[in-house]
Amino acid sequence: MNVEHKRDQSPSGLHVVIVGAGIGGLACAIACRRAGPPLSVTVVERAPEILTIGAGIHIPPNACRVVASLGLLDKLKQAGGYQVQGFTLRRYKNGNILVEKPMGPRMKTEYGAEWLAIHRGDYQGVLLEAAREAGADILTNAEVIGIAKGIGEFSGKQMVVLKDGKSLMADVVVGADGLWSGVREFVLGRPFPPVETGDLAYRGTFTREQLKSFKNERIDELMEAENVQVWLGPGRHAVFYPLRNKTEYNLVLLVADDLPEGVRTSQGSLDEMAANFEGWDPILNTIISCLKSALKWKLLHFNELDQWTKGAITLLGDASHPTLPYQGQGAAMAVEDGAILAVLLSRLQNRGLSDALGERNTQLSDLLRLFQDLRKRRTEVNVAGAVDTRHYYHLPDGEEQVRRDKELASLPESAWQGPCSFNWGDADYQQSLLGFDVLADAERSFDEWSRRKSREANI
Ligand SMILES: Cc1cc2nc3c(=O)[nH]c(=O)nc-3n(C[C@H](O)[C@H](O)[C@H](O)COP(=O)(O)OP(=O)(O)OC[C@H]3O[C@@H](n4cnc5c(N)ncnc54)[C@H](O)[C@@H]3O)c2cc1C
Ligand SMILES: *[C@@H]1O[C@H](CO)[C@@H](O)[C@H](O)[C@H]1NC(C)=O
Repeated sequence: MNVEHKRDQSPSGLHVVIVGAGIGGLACAIACRRAGPPLSVTVVERAPEILTIGAGIHIPPNACRVVASLGLLDKLKQAGGYQVQGFTLRRYKNGNILVEKPMGPRMKTEYGAEWLAIHRGDYQGVLLEAAREAGADILTNAEVIGIAKGIGEFSGKQMVVLKDGKSLMADVVVGADGLWSGVREFVLGRPFPPVETGDLAYRGTFTREQLKSFKNERIDELMEAENVQVWLGPGRHAVFYPLRNKTEYNLVLLVADDLPEGVRTSQGSLDEMAANFEGWDPILNTIISCLKSALKWKLLHFNELDQWTKGAITLLGDASHPTLPYQGQGAAMAVEDGAILAVLLSRLQNRGLSDALGERNTQLSDLLRLFQDLRKRRTEVNVAGAVDTRHYYHLPDGEEQVRRDKELASLPESAWQGPCSFNWGDADYQQSLLGFDVLADAERSFDEWSRRKSREANI
């Protein structure tokens, strides 16, 4: 067993082991490697190969600001990431527009960064390549089965144990291992499975040719718009947008969860899937007919996880704050987490780590608590915001729905600058979600933390 150090690394520098090469883990790896000087990073991924699969995903301004700071914006655009021009909410029965939120260049003006949509596989592919180029070691076929305290010459370090019997020594372990995180169990000392949200998703992509073959003017129009289209109806909604330069299209159907508890996914039938949207906009039903498989995904989350860190071990992304995807913020929050963690660790390394391992561990666990404090409130607001979105998106026809639709229709009059009872239309809420500069905040918070530590040391 040996802790290897990269040549650009001082031997006393931090070695970070990241469990999971998802979007959050990779973003963290890149940010750690881009720090000056870089941290030593090993990513361990249990999959035999990092498959860049999936459907569409959003990169909202808060995440876009972070990926831009990592120098990845052009690469993401070359990989098919495009600026979403509008967010169109539609009435389920007929597809009539309830309101269209202008996005495009307005995102940069309002929030300081663009709103992109991209194929999830392409996103992960860009991150993977960037992480490798930046010098992160990425091990595949490497499933973590436990974390133990190092002993002997490694005392004070964390020992990350892999299924094949090998182990790695780390100063810091980051559990970026997703919804069913094993590191989370280790941090909490007990299983803590995510809970049902009440909804499940069907999702898939299909080709331009499939849609073109309908020879329908309204479908053609939807295909050309660089908009996210959302049909809102009682207890369910549907989301449609283009991908890969409009050669592919993404469709997600969100409906009531009827899977037994404990069943995560299940192959449903196409008829059953379509039946959810009987009586809805016939155009939507035509688009739904393009889906050739009906895999049901149970959507899970937590209201709150009391603890994210234990000593020099911490969690990020879906491992610590899984959410309903209704604000397009799951991966975005994971990317924020990863970049902020890198800022904090690198600042600590530069401030000076103690040579005494015990003291060094105290420094690290203190710093990880700062990370938790910075992230917990923001991600909890996000999880709750997605639950609110579910409520407003899924209103049954009736008084509250009529009020919602009226309020939505009035939003353009205020130029999107006013309050709204639905967070999607509320200027302050959107500003704090999309416009808040989390990296600058992390720098400030580190400065404060560091001053406090210096004062404490002098008492
Ligand atoms: C229908 C749907 C739509 C969504 N749309 C959006 C969207 O538009 N925008 C958005 O921002 N988010 C969206 N999300 C959420 C987003 O997919 C997740 O929040 C995000 O991918 C979480 O990233 P992560 O890196 O935390 O975890 P994951 O992507 O789950 O990665 C975890 C990784 O850890 C690995 N791993 C697990 N256990 C181990 C182990 N023991 N040892 C080694 N490796 C391990 C896994 O193999 C995996 O590669 C959506 C989610 C759903 C379900
Ligand atoms: C996108 O598609 C259009 C129309 O087919 C084409 O002209 C353009 O070159 C494509 N752009 C990229 C980046 O592939």
